[in-house]
Amino acid sequence: MSDLTFETESHASPRSVEERTALMANPGFGKVFTDHMVIARYSAGRGWHDAKVTARAPLPLDPAAAVLHYAQEIFEGLKAYRTADGGAALFRPEANARRFRLSAERMAMAPFPEEAFIEAQRRLVEIDRAWIPDTPGGSLYLRPFMIATEVFLGVKPASEYLFVTIASAVGSYFKDPTGTVTVWLSEHFTRAAPGGTGAAKCGGNYAASLAAQAEAARHQCEQVVFLDAAERRYIEELGGMNVFFVFGDGTLVTPPLSDSILPGITRDSIITLAREDGLTVREVPYTIDAWREDVRTGRLTEAFACGTAAVITPIGRVRGREDDFTIGNAVAGPVAQRLRTRLVDIQRGLAEDRHGWFQRV
Ligand code: PLP
Ligand code: COI
Repeated sequence: MSDLTFETESHASPRSVEERTALMANPGFGKVFTDHMVIARYSAGRGWHDAKVTARAPLPLDPAAAVLHYAQEIFEGLKAYRTADGGAALFRPEANARRFRLSAERMAMAPFPEEAFIEAQRRLVEIDRAWIPDTPGGSLYLRPFMIATEVFLGVKPASEYLFVTIASAVGSYFKDPTGTVTVWLSEHFTRAAPGGTGAAKCGGNYAASLAAQAEAARHQCEQVVFLDAAERRYIEELGGMNVFFVFGDGTLVTPPLSDSILPGITRDSIITLAREDGLTVREVPYTIDAWREDVRTGRLTEAFACGTAAVITPIGRVRGREDDFTIGNAVAGPVAQRLRTRLVDIQRGLAEDRHGWFQRV
């Protein structure tokens, strides 16, 4: 166990029931925040210390804090769900704790103890339990992150860090929760390169993806499909989601993990559930040319994006400089729908969990 203990500072003025209810009526994604946050500090001399659950408030930050200059920052995303019996549960928080540690290592940051990471999530869910939506698509999105706070302009790994977790009551990430998304094939911009930071969940990866995301938006697309940086042939992932392809013979294909793809926890869960359902899942490289051809010949029947925010979102249409094709009839396909139900039912405690993924708070 980690010896980091979280003190609780009670909130002077949490928002009223009426205010909270109004805010949660139609929360969208990442706009409605709860009353509390968890913080902890690190310094090279003392290690992790001053861990507390406290009122959500702006962070005091020196203008020379290293994160503002050299972007030493990592984050995670996981959800707390309202269960059928009115309780609360987390989904695989230990997997996020582990990925957070690996991201810290890649960014030369002080690793946050995995037990303390899980404890921080549990404590925030406990104190802000009333903010977990009880709508079918709603959840409490937890956003743990860590920044370099050392006041120093030399380029080196910082010696001081701040760990924070905030929480946001959310609905669906995409506007139409039952529909499909249109994706933009990015032929100019890439997201991550071999040897780079693509497998780490660091803010810089998302900053680097925004020009492509803006290009996608200009073409009425909701997400970007990134190709590999070396050959610009292999599909890697979307700006904030992994990707699966479904074939008529019941096979699923997803790009194999590498140092330029974020190892999604949803991706891993889907592979397990699909195999349990008797589907064949192949983690093999898949090119954009193969995608075009497999859609043209009808071999490929579905494609979908997956992630904590997106859950499982079918891809209905693909656009690019020279591409514009639809998948199936541009409606949610049966394989994506079935896997989504399987996953969501486990997350909400409605179906048997054979893997220890569902963790009550
Ligand atoms: N890929 C990227 C770039 C992401 O930002 C995310 C979201 O966290 C994912 C994949 C999916 O990861 P997970 O399923 O762990 O949320
Ligand atoms: C998540 O799914 O948790 C992410 O971080 C992706 C982001 C697009 C919200």
